[in-house]
Amino acid sequence: MSLRIGDIAPNFKATTSIGDIDFHDYLGDSWGVLFSHPADYTPVCTTELGRTASLKKEFNQRNVKVLALSVDGVESHLGWINDINETQNTEVDFPIIADEDKTVANLYDMIHPNASETLTVRSLFVIGPDKKVKLMITYPASTGRNFDEVLRVIDSLQLTANYSVATPADWKDGEDVIVANSIKTADIPAKFPKGFKEIKPYLRTTPQPNK
Ligand code: BEZ
Repeated sequence: MSLRIGDIAPNFKATTSIGDIDFHDYLGDSWGVLFSHPADYTPVCTTELGRTASLKKEFNQRNVKVLALSVDGVESHLGWINDINETQNTEVDFPIIADEDKTVANLYDMIHPNASETLTVRSLFVIGPDKKVKLMITYPASTGRNFDEVLRVIDSLQLTANYSVATPADWKDGEDVIVANSIKTADIPAKFPKGFKEIKPYLRTTPQPNK
């Protein structure tokens, strides 16, 4: 059965562009982003890995370790990283998993045979410090991912892990949030002292509590 939100992200050992890793040990207490690329030396993937490298500070601030994957080997990854650094004006220093035997791709259901029998689609998993899958997004090979959206969802996940809130459509860090329905309206002032609005009994908003 395929992986679902809330499942433990399967552990694996892999060879990567920065050496051999045990996935869970590598993540340690951090959050993780594991994302697949159809192949090395391809144009969309080149821009995605460059963009990821350029967001290093953003991922670090959120305590997120990033790991990319493609089904090519380490030598190919290392040559491609040189190209990415040159063309995207950045420095890729996160691991790219060399999944030549497709062990990880199969564990994470990254090959969708009706799209391609051999290449992974653009899967992306956000994994929490508890090693559970928090987010799964799948893009086709022809569409590069939106990394602002990846950071936005991580902000939401990290906020909702610590407070009894949810985030509305198109929410961005710093904007009002929704009080969880598990909190009675009478209990909101004690829990959210910045105030709240009751738009409907089931729709109560409050300023972002950690800002
Ligand atoms: C790309 O990264 O450009 C790409 C890879 C596989 C299929 C289509 C595009």
